Amino acid sequence: MASFLLFLSIISFLFPFISSSNSSTTIPLSFLNTNTNQDFYQKLTHLASFSLARAHHIKNPQDSSISNIPLYPHSYGGYSITLPFGTPPQKTPFVMDTGSSFVWFPCTKKYQCSKCPVSSQKNPTFIPRLSSSARVLGCLNPKCSWIHPKNSPKSLCHDCEFRNRTNCKHACPPYMIHYGSGSTAGIGLVETLNLPNKKIPNFLVGCSLLSSQQPAGIAGFGKGMSSLPSQLGAKKLSYCLVSHMFNDIPKSSMLVLDTVYEKSKNLIRTPLLKSPFVAGRNALAGYYYVGLRKITVGEQIVKVPYQYLAPNSKGNGGTIVDSGTTFTFLNHVIFVPVMNAFVNQVKGFSRTEKIERLTNLRPCFNVSGHKIVSLPEMKFHFQGGSEMVLPLANYFSIVGENDVICLTMVSDSRLELSTGPSIILGNFQMQNFFVEFDLKNDMFGFRHQVCK
Ligand SMILES: *[C@@H]1O[C@H](CO)[C@@H](O)[C@H](O)[C@H]1NC(C)=O
Ligand SMILES: *[C@@H]1O[C@H](CO)[C@@H](O)[C@H](O)[C@H]1NC(C)=O
Ligand SMILES: *[C@@H]1O[C@H](CO)[C@@H](O)[C@H](O)[C@H]1NC(C)=O
Repeated sequence: MASFLLFLSIISFLFPFISSSNSSTTIPLSFLNTNTNQDFYQKLTHLASFSLARAHHIKNPQDSSISNIPLYPHSYGGYSITLPFGTPPQKTPFVMDTGSSFVWFPCTKKYQCSKCPVSSQKNPTFIPRLSSSARVLGCLNPKCSWIHPKNSPKSLCHDCEFRNRTNCKHACPPYMIHYGSGSTAGIGLVETLNLPNKKIPNFLVGCSLLSSQQPAGIAGFGKGMSSLPSQLGAKKLSYCLVSHMFNDIPKSSMLVLDTVYEKSKNLIRTPLLKSPFVAGRNALAGYYYVGLRKITVGEQIVKVPYQYLAPNSKGNGGTIVDSGTTFTFLNHVIFVPVMNAFVNQVKGFSRTEKIERLTNLRPCFNVSGHKIVSLPEMKFHFQGGSEMVLPLANYFSIVGENDVICLTMVSDSRLELSTGPSIILGNFQMQNFFVEFDLKNDMFGFRHQVCK
């Protein structure tokens, strides 16, 4: 049994600086809060519903008719970084997202964002006119096909084929990304990304002119060619997620991109599995899959059924690590026994179904009058025998006025959610874990530590 005393508060937006050594780039990573006026109870309810919306899109990445950039909504509960693009550099904030592989920023003075968090209006937009290194992505530039992988250059750049090919002035067609609770659209730029010791010229970045429901730009850290680690040629990506729980003290931790490989010490490791390539669902190829075998709750073992252990040829099944998801999503078949394991082992507290209905979180227990609560330990067991022991604050949270606690994982029995990854490991469960994506050896490593 693990005991805990919990408080929850969400820190405000930070504009950090960037530092770097020769072969590794270190970027401060902060918790992105977009709604400071809500109480804990409303925040958790929002985080639960956005985690479910996110799960829906992660699991059903339909290529859009115009483009198939894998992008998903982020509205609450994400982590942000600041990157300087252009000459001279202009700094803009981005949501750090391992579940997508494209980098875009709000762009030009005309940028329109509908139904976006009020806090997003304070973010600077990138002004290409003020940068001497900004170029519109040309139609025949191979990076245009990163944005439009479904189309051949011939169909994309029709006019160029018929006129003077070497003198083609046509821009790569605009990108447009739809998702259930938001969208963004714009044109591709090639621009200089300024890291302190390193300039990356001709970095493909989206100049978004129109978005809805976006708290900031998005920096895709997935496996796709247009992601930040891929364009940098990074061999390793690592970060440590600062806790969601702070008393309004702005805090950031570090995200590190290494271009020279050196093996990290003291990490628990499990292989990164092969991502599926499925026609019409390109986004799946950019996800980081790990082999989650079972979950233990105290004495009880919940095995991940065989068909969910790894993605099949249709891209269904498997577990991904997603920094853009807040609360871990578990397929219903896995979630129900996990929930029951808590219900069976937590004695002396009654369930509050009213709060469960309101928050979409289950199970919730009324702990009114108790200063200390003991709950079963929760562990994720990965392929190769590695275990992730979750700190209690990473799987239970206080809701409302300190008298109810709820499991901070989500599920949904709706059928469409049975496709795509079966388990999405979210950032709430990774708080105070150092995690490393070893891109050279396809290994995922982690260790529990206080992130700062
Ligand atoms: C930086 O990299 C260069 C070339 O890769 C190398 O010669 C130099 O020694 C490195 N400097 C440091 C401080 O590591
Ligand atoms: C294409 O354009 C280039 C640059 O303007 C020019 O040098 C070349 O002669 C043109 N070729 C044709 C076939 O028109
Ligand atoms: C929790 O239990 C206390 C005492 O039994 C009760 O007063 C309170 O209303 C309960 N809270 C909820 C959210 O059910």
